[in-house]
Amino acid sequence: MRIYDIINKKKRGGVLTNEEIRFVIDGFTAGSIPDYQVSALLMAIYFQGMNAEETTAITMAMVDSGERVDLSAISGTTVDKHSTGGVGDKTTLIVIPIVAALGLPVAKMSGRGLGHTGGTVDKLESIPGFRTALSDKAFLDITINHGLCVAGQSANLAPADKKLYALRDVTATVDSIPLIAASIMSKKIAAGAECILLDVKTGSGAFMKTLEGAQALAKAMVDIGKGCGRKTAALITDMSAPLGRSIGNSLELKEVIQVLSEPAETVAQDLYSVCIALATNIAVLAECGTYEECEAKVKQTITSGDALKKLADMVEAQGGDRSYIEDPKNFPLAPHIVEITAPQGGYISDMDTEGVGIAGMILGAGRETSEDEIDYSAGVILHATTGDRVEKGQIIATFHTSKSAAIEPATSKFIAALTFAETPPPPRTMIYGKVGF
Ligand code: URA
Repeated sequence: MRIYDIINKKKRGGVLTNEEIRFVIDGFTAGSIPDYQVSALLMAIYFQGMNAEETTAITMAMVDSGERVDLSAISGTTVDKHSTGGVGDKTTLIVIPIVAALGLPVAKMSGRGLGHTGGTVDKLESIPGFRTALSDKAFLDITINHGLCVAGQSANLAPADKKLYALRDVTATVDSIPLIAASIMSKKIAAGAECILLDVKTGSGAFMKTLEGAQALAKAMVDIGKGCGRKTAALITDMSAPLGRSIGNSLELKEVIQVLSEPAETVAQDLYSVCIALATNIAVLAECGTYEECEAKVKQTITSGDALKKLADMVEAQGGDRSYIEDPKNFPLAPHIVEITAPQGGYISDMDTEGVGIAGMILGAGRETSEDEIDYSAGVILHATTGDRVEKGQIIATFHTSKSAAIEPATSKFIAALTFAETPPPPRTMIYGKVGF
């Protein structure tokens, strides 16, 4: 087999065999096929696409490039969720304690944030002492004892994806649906859960900006999961505005605690409705009952305090100070807290959500490059969002930061991200659809 022939075949729109795909992934991982040839193949895939069989084959070749997490010691139906990421997306930290409280164990590997999107690992590390670098044994033991655990992504999980992603990143081939689907699903399959719910976000703060793109990505990922024998489904959810009212690590954790402890009608309804839908659909996928039964059980884990206790138990088991969950006033505040006012009156009719995320990043809540340090207390609290009517001069956000020099550029970025209109925009749809049920 020759890599030249494989590139040429894909360039002409041919369908690659399982053997050809394995030859490429194994050779690339081992270093025997050079980057320049894999780059050419990636570009051919970008233009010619891959069918469902090829996409599953590349996923499995990437899974087999590393280790798989063995969750067989955990009793109960293991579940996992994945979000394609967004601004203020703290759903994992709300949903996994809920499903753990329902008796569905979650041994979750999560990533760090980059650019305008945040990462679950960073949010948890805003709790003093919290460890996400865990041995395999600790990861399993904590899940067995408490029903949930969140660890950082192990380097041994789908190493071919890591190497391939780095090449895609510099060859303008990231935004290929089969390559994104294979990349995400290789890590989910290797992570071992029986049921996988994917939250594919769409809108101005999402990786997939259009509904059509999100639907295609959801379908590609669900097909891979099912093809690999996992119960897999996806929700397509809205990211046309930040989710909830907080952006930034400890600020988001405080909102997580609010959702898990305060009456439903007092918390941000966009965030609440998406979290209830995600948790309910996980329970349905794991065959815990009808949709209505599962939804009632999900809400009950919040009102009973069981889900909040699960979160605190996990934090303690991972070395963190549980008093931060029990009393969120323990989180330190940033030294500079600045009110941002509306430059004009009217309805906020639209938001460039990515722009709002970048404002948060400028304040210190995120990383521009993977080497950047995070300021855990930095970020944005929104007092108004898309659909709200505001008066000129009304406080619409509060910035939290340790860097006074960041306030002016973050303000410009934030204000430029808002569109005002005389008439209200149509009501926001939070769930656009489901795939795989
Ligand atoms: N996230 C991933 O893990 N992989 C991609 O290709 C894109 C987003």
